[in-house]
Amino acid sequence: MSYTALPTAPPQFAALHGRHSSLLIEWQDDDAPLWRYWGPRLASGALPPAPLRALRPLPSFMLDHDQPLTLAPTFGVGWFGQSALLAHRSGRAFAQAFSECLLQTPDPQTLRLALTDPVAQLRLELRLHLDAASDVLTLSSRLTNLGADALDLQWLAAGTLPLPARCTAVRSYFGQHMHEFQLQTEVLSRSLWRRENRRGRTSHDNFPGAVVTTPGADADAGLVYGAHLAWSGNHQQTIEWLHDGQYQWQLGEWLSPGEGLLAPGQTLDTPEIVASCSTQGLNGLAANFHAELRARLPWAGGAMRPRPVHLNTWEGFYFDLEPAKVMALADAAAAVGVERFVVDDGWFQGRHHDRAALGDWWPDAAKFPLGLGPLVAHVRRLGMEFGLWVEPEMVNPDSELHRAHPDWALQLDGRPMLTARNQLVLDIARPEVADYLFDKIEALVRAHAIDYLKWDHNRDLSCAGLADGRPGYRAQVLAVYALMDRLRAAHPALEIESCSGGGGRIDFAVLRHAHRVWTSDCIDALARIDTQRGYLQFFPPEVMGAHVGTAPAHSTGRSQGMDFRAAVALPGHFGLEFDLRQLDAPALTQLGDWLRLYKRWRERLHHGRVWLGETGDSVVWQAHGDAAELLLLVYRTAPSTLRYMPLLRLPMLDRSARYRLRQVEPDSQIGRRSLDSTAPWLESLRGEPGALIDGAWLAEAGLALPRCKAETAFMVHLSRL
Ligand code: GLA
Repeated sequence: MSYTALPTAPPQFAALHGRHSSLLIEWQDDDAPLWRYWGPRLASGALPPAPLRALRPLPSFMLDHDQPLTLAPTFGVGWFGQSALLAHRSGRAFAQAFSECLLQTPDPQTLRLALTDPVAQLRLELRLHLDAASDVLTLSSRLTNLGADALDLQWLAAGTLPLPARCTAVRSYFGQHMHEFQLQTEVLSRSLWRRENRRGRTSHDNFPGAVVTTPGADADAGLVYGAHLAWSGNHQQTIEWLHDGQYQWQLGEWLSPGEGLLAPGQTLDTPEIVASCSTQGLNGLAANFHAELRARLPWAGGAMRPRPVHLNTWEGFYFDLEPAKVMALADAAAAVGVERFVVDDGWFQGRHHDRAALGDWWPDAAKFPLGLGPLVAHVRRLGMEFGLWVEPEMVNPDSELHRAHPDWALQLDGRPMLTARNQLVLDIARPEVADYLFDKIEALVRAHAIDYLKWDHNRDLSCAGLADGRPGYRAQVLAVYALMDRLRAAHPALEIESCSGGGGRIDFAVLRHAHRVWTSDCIDALARIDTQRGYLQFFPPEVMGAHVGTAPAHSTGRSQGMDFRAAVALPGHFGLEFDLRQLDAPALTQLGDWLRLYKRWRERLHHGRVWLGETGDSVVWQAHGDAAELLLLVYRTAPSTLRYMPLLRLPMLDRSARYRLRQVEPDSQIGRRSLDSTAPWLESLRGEPGALIDGAWLAEAGLALPRCKAETAFMVHLSRL
């Protein structure tokens, strides 16, 4: 019996360095590795002066064993904070402590740690990878049950991150259907900060990630930390104050009871955490996340094609997909410049409303007596790609599929089968269910060379039991990734959009399998501004589905002018979602101008960095590009309360260069002013040759703005001379 758990092996240090960030751990053969540092770049070779325990005087009335924060803190043997692991064996073996540690560095950017607890009979393998270029740290964990009996694992953090004591606030995102990515800022304190999601999908309610800031950090300067759990199911994150003043941040899958039951020899792999820190404020952090996401998108051929303009039939027609009407809409869409025509819900057998038919994935015989062939041929003749809406994981009780296989829906013995939007969730982890869905959808894709699937998921999981009564949340997520991959393997050029009642399934994991997300069912441009800005903290604009809807907006009843609606959708993966046939000729010309403008600028918008900023007085802006060339989009969301406009600073510009500035307007905008009043210099931005200004002036003093009306946009192209 030993009275101390203090390790005896000599401590060693291991570091990973990115361009602007570093991490450092202290490890020894017979202890769990300690977190020593994650923050701004250290000089290569910079080390702490001593092992951590040699630097920390012990406070009074504490355990004689000093237990600092490890990479995997565990409950019961000297650690009193949140545990990265909660597990037991029939009520025993409830405490864990790793006393063997093997470190491997397979490459200069990766640490692999194998930690063993011979008493609890567990092995925990951790992988940390710091991408040198993006400064994104990915972490994941794998737990193996080395014991002879079952281990009930209740919580396994994908990773535990240290946050320095100077962190003061956490920015996270809440929401609901039609109201995604709403920013909530809270002060960090000694109380535990926790966000959890048990809805079985990424959720509108709790985005699995957050940004932690230090005092003085702003959009472009100061130290900020961000982390996101790449996972499309249940999740949990906590930030906990520790007695040395720092915080620990754990993120992981929220396991429902029983989901972590590991048989002897069995292993559980966590999702990945994608994390980063930046000394360049929120925009610097966003750039890191965008770089990482861009590296993982599964583009056919390895590179993104320019994002084609969409027309989606949903808000134009809802379920009323009468082929002649749809073809007429396709004609109008092609004429205005649309490049991909997406037939949304309502095309399949018996789908005339949202009360029936999910699961019956063949064309409705009444609406499409000849199948989809004539419509697809029509769309292709018009030079557009063809996309189709599906919601594979769902079934309506009123469907042929459910009548034939009522047991295929997730359900719990003795419990009601709770519907949502009149639908149930299929147990797609069952091979016969996945095969059915694959066969039905693949046949359509093959028959019509479908380019694009809008893949929806319109309800939370509840009563989500598998056939044997076990919980099906985790299995469902893994199965949907597998089904998407199977379809893409059969049709490598197929693109997929992840939709879930709008933005209920937006995360870095689904975007290993999909190419676009439907950001929100709310297309009200004013509401979209906040949603898009929240989204852009983590995700790049080219995968952000952004449509011009009609006025008044179906979701809010508010009306905005066409120019504002289009300018707000412009930076994303642009599309239209209304019945264009209702537009008169001038409006169609105006819309066509916007499509041309998008096509002219999409490469600039979709590559390079995104900076978000605000000048106050209800003006928010975003700039896309780099210091050599930028497209600046300025949105006024409410009437001005100032007599003179505040200046807009562009700190990313090259201070030693001069820039040429030209106002960007759709052709039909020329002469039609959304400006209240302008000034001679601002007039010089319009047309050639534009205006010349010093980068230093724009970076430090700022750009003069016109007086714009509420709900208008002002756009400027800046190019370095
Ligand atoms: C969800 C999507 C919408 C639309 C409908 C169809 O709500 O978010 O865009 O596809 O389903 O039922």
